[in-house]
Amino acid sequence: MAALPIRVYPDPALRKRCRPVGRVDAALRELAGGMVETLHSAPGVGLAAPQVGEEVRLIVVDLSLGQDPGQLRVLVNPEPLSAEGEQMEEEGCLSLPGVHEKVRRSMRVRVRALNLQGEEILLDGEGPLARVLEHEMDHLDGKLLLDHLTRAKRDLLKRRLKKRGRAAAPWFV
Ligand code: NI
Repeated sequence: MAALPIRVYPDPALRKRCRPVGRVDAALRELAGGMVETLHSAPGVGLAAPQVGEEVRLIVVDLSLGQDPGQLRVLVNPEPLSAEGEQMEEEGCLSLPGVHEKVRRSMRVRVRALNLQGEEILLDGEGPLARVLEHEMDHLDGKLLLDHLTRAKRDLLKRRLKKRGRAAAPWFV
């Protein structure tokens, strides 16, 4: 499957609470494959299904940007089991072009999910992996990194993004 178009703020798909996946089937595996392709061609370190307009609880994460197949994680219905510690680092999002802001995240998270075989897995993330996992799980609840910022900062960035969106629109239709 070719790379999919990435939804950009203020696309309403980014604000939906996504439904859990009921069954891991061929259609879901195909979507996951398309998301991996999209992630690698962006390139980015994480992508959630609503960013390609699919309102289901599916995320892909790859801190190696496609350089190390061992780092690719595809997580179905991911949910945090525990979170510890704190980190404050700069973060971006493929759906928020040009935005790079410091966001507080947990230092360690343990996530439970299904893999593409429908088996339950546990994934422990620390540092950058914990950050990406929390960022992508936020997307599944319609939450963006903007929502972690102060109100003044958030309003400023929203105005900037909307202006940019209007200016860019003719090139994307
Ligand atoms: Ni994002």
